[in-house]
Amino acid sequence: MENLLTLNNLVVRFTAGRGRTVRAVDGVSLEIHRGETLGLVGESGCGKTTLGRVLAGLIKPTAGEITKTGDFRTQMIFQDPYSSLDPRMTAATIIAEGVRAADKPARVCELMQLVGLDPALGSRYPHEFSGGQRQRIGIARALGAEPQFIVADEPIAALDVSIQAQILNLLQELQARLGLTYLFISHDLRAVHHIADRIAVMYLGKIVEVAEARELYGRPLMPYTQALISAVPSPDPEVELHRERIVLTGDIPSPLNPPSGCRFRTRCAQVMPECAEKEPALLAIVTGHQAACHAVPAA
Ligand SMILES: Nc1ncnc2c1ncn2[C@@H]1O[C@H](COP(=O)(O)OP(=O)(O)OP(=O)(O)O)[C@@H](O)[C@H]1O
Ligand SMILES: [Mg+2]
Repeated sequence: MENLLTLNNLVVRFTAGRGRTVRAVDGVSLEIHRGETLGLVGESGCGKTTLGRVLAGLIKPTAGEITKTGDFRTQMIFQDPYSSLDPRMTAATIIAEGVRAADKPARVCELMQLVGLDPALGSRYPHEFSGGQRQRIGIARALGAEPQFIVADEPIAALDVSIQAQILNLLQELQARLGLTYLFISHDLRAVHHIADRIAVMYLGKIVEVAEARELYGRPLMPYTQALISAVPSPDPEVELHRERIVLTGDIPSPLNPPSGCRFRTRCAQVMPECAEKEPALLAIVTGHQAACHAVPAA
């Protein structure tokens, strides 16, 4: 498996006034394989968008390295397809903005067809489209730049449930057709399970577990991942009947002042004395499955 991107100890800090710093991304090392969908999950504020923005080149990391294999473009798809589209521009103009091809009108037409929009709607303004159609415009705009890598930041979160599956399917079709690689950011674990090949779990600026989707759902190692997965209803009524919900207690600590050692220890049911003293490293527990937890025995 070839790595399209390799992140080495990536750090993003923001100044938060009065000399304080937010450690939004705090030492992330991660591999993104060519052609895969890597899901990125975690609670609000853990740093998912910040990590996505760094990978899309929208902000510079404070420290660390991003190694790219080859020369390729990255684009981002945003959560809110309304606020990310200029209301004074027509759909065709919005899509044309990023187009690299010489014959822009022809390419815009092609892109609209590719994302399932009738090219005849190109002269309409964003408010004249439904939420799902607006997200299709956002996707067409991203594709105009001919990217190989797309960071999709909660691309279905603002959409009606009935439309969510359509957009997920569209993203999958486009991936197969164009050989795209995705970082799919979401806190909807069901959507991530549906679309992702592998999943990375983030907590307070750190990646705490990475595995193939099926492995992560079937055998979550980190107590945090176990809690996240236990909160997802199963479509199988039999499994759902016996689902034991692990409820996370306590607030998410502030990224201004994260706990010592393991950051999850203040909410962890399996906490041990060493968790406060030593930060657990992200280690391969079995092939392809990494976790950062003192309670998980290394293989
Ligand atoms: N430009 C900024 N300046 C200061 N702090 C920021 C900035 N952007 C993000 N942060 C802070 O960095 C942390 C991570 O934010 P981020 O938006 O990456 O989280 P997230 O995981 O995407 O959350 P959500 O699920 O709510 O979208 C938060 O504490 C946030 O307040
Ligand atoms: Mg976000």
